[in-house]
Amino acid sequence: MTPAPTSVPPVGQPLLRIRGVNHTFGSGDAKTQVLFDNNLEVMPGELVIMSGPSGSGKTTILTLIGGLRGIQSGEIDIWDGQLGKYRSLFGSSDADLVKVRRLIGFIFQRHNLFDSLQAVQNIRMAQQLFTEGGATADEDIHKLLTYLGLAQRMHYKPAGLSGGQRQRVAVARALVNRPKLILADEPTAALDANSGLAVITLLQNLARERDPDEIAKLIRKPGEHDDETGRLTEEQAVLLKELAVQRGSTSLIVTHDSRIMNRADRIVHMERGKIVSNVVVAERLFVTEGLRKAAFFAAILPEQQQTIADGICIGLHPNLPVSEHLAARPGLPVKVFAAGQAIVKQGDPVDDASEFYLIRQGKVRVERDAGFGPTKVAELGLQDFFGDRALVTNEPRNGSVIAEERTEVYCIGRETFRKYEAISRPFIMRIRDVYGTK
Ligand SMILES: Nc1ncnc2c1ncn2[C@@H]1O[C@H](COP(=O)(O)OP(=O)(O)OP(=O)(O)O)[C@@H](O)[C@H]1O
Ligand SMILES: [Mg+2]
Repeated sequence: MTPAPTSVPPVGQPLLRIRGVNHTFGSGDAKTQVLFDNNLEVMPGELVIMSGPSGSGKTTILTLIGGLRGIQSGEIDIWDGQLGKYRSLFGSSDADLVKVRRLIGFIFQRHNLFDSLQAVQNIRMAQQLFTEGGATADEDIHKLLTYLGLAQRMHYKPAGLSGGQRQRVAVARALVNRPKLILADEPTAALDANSGLAVITLLQNLARERDPDEIAKLIRKPGEHDDETGRLTEEQAVLLKELAVQRGSTSLIVTHDSRIMNRADRIVHMERGKIVSNVVVAERLFVTEGLRKAAFFAAILPEQQQTIADGICIGLHPNLPVSEHLAARPGLPVKVFAAGQAIVKQGDPVDDASEFYLIRQGKVRVERDAGFGPTKVAELGLQDFFGDRALVTNEPRNGSVIAEERTEVYCIGRETFRKYEAISRPFIMRIRDVYGTK
């Protein structure tokens, strides 16, 4: 079945958008605000981990996104592939919230399984409740349960299952309708290494196709025993392939599990009711690698490089373009230039507004004019940088840089250079020729 053209948001647009979300519990003297101005955009097919101390508001924000609690202030929009537009949760009627919940697969701490139903019946129940036509065959439920290590327990009722086994039934129930958005609160907290790995690997593969080598590393070789890493059996590997035929599911997972952290596309951190950091793992890598190519940043410590990189990362995969909406955000450390626009002009003096640039997308040409008209001296592209020389030497720009196509650049201000100058200076003196002063 080919998806309708509207089943995914327009290119560059998120599947989930959260803006200015606050939340307060209680009333009168007992009134406490627990969420403060939260903003987040999650792109289709992303696996996002949310971390943060106990009580920081992770579960609360998850329940708001899931339409399980009314939004008091702010906006939460979720792309509805069937409607072909965003559903706004703020001010939605109860009937509309029910429709929103149908878009989502929930894996919550209290799994709410029906005590009187067997594992397989609990899942079938969710299917009947949520699937509008095109119900998934029983075969799929069997595959899911077998993959999750519950082949022998399919017909047990919750009372006969351990906490971890119940949690896995809840995972199967959340995934059986192939939701586009999966919200999970500590989904692996009660799981052994193999089940934990099975859950996270399935979520990853539901999001997008993985490199076969990456998957091969997770599979036990014939005759090998299980170890503490919980690698998958060959049977699980086959089932994984069959279960994850449909892609594009987005997951937002609250977890403290470090085994999962390093499998994420993005890590969001909450402190005292606010999302304080939002790191796209690939973007962090892209920026850090780019910075390290510049002599100035190569001279400082890796932790310092990381801090600078995190300071300019915008929480968007470097493959994705900055939307107009995002570009308009004040103080965004990325600037967008149209083809033909000058990013740097020869002769411009260095002042506090001067910046260093790292190319995020697009292409530029460097021109120098020795008095006889401009000559192209270089062409720069993805992950290349420019503009550091003037900030190091304090001399006017020695060339112009012009966008050859739509170009996005990460910008680092002069004050950052000042901050690290004392460290970089001795190193830079030695490689002065790089910057060609005087
Ligand atoms: N129904 C409620 N009524 C009043 N206060 C609440 C309610 N639910 C949560 N809180 C408070 O809101 C704050 C955030 O709680 P939340 O459950 O979102 O934290 P959390 O980050 O999920 O923590 P944990 O990691 O322990 O699960 C806490 O101070 C909590 O006491
Ligand atoms: Mg919680």
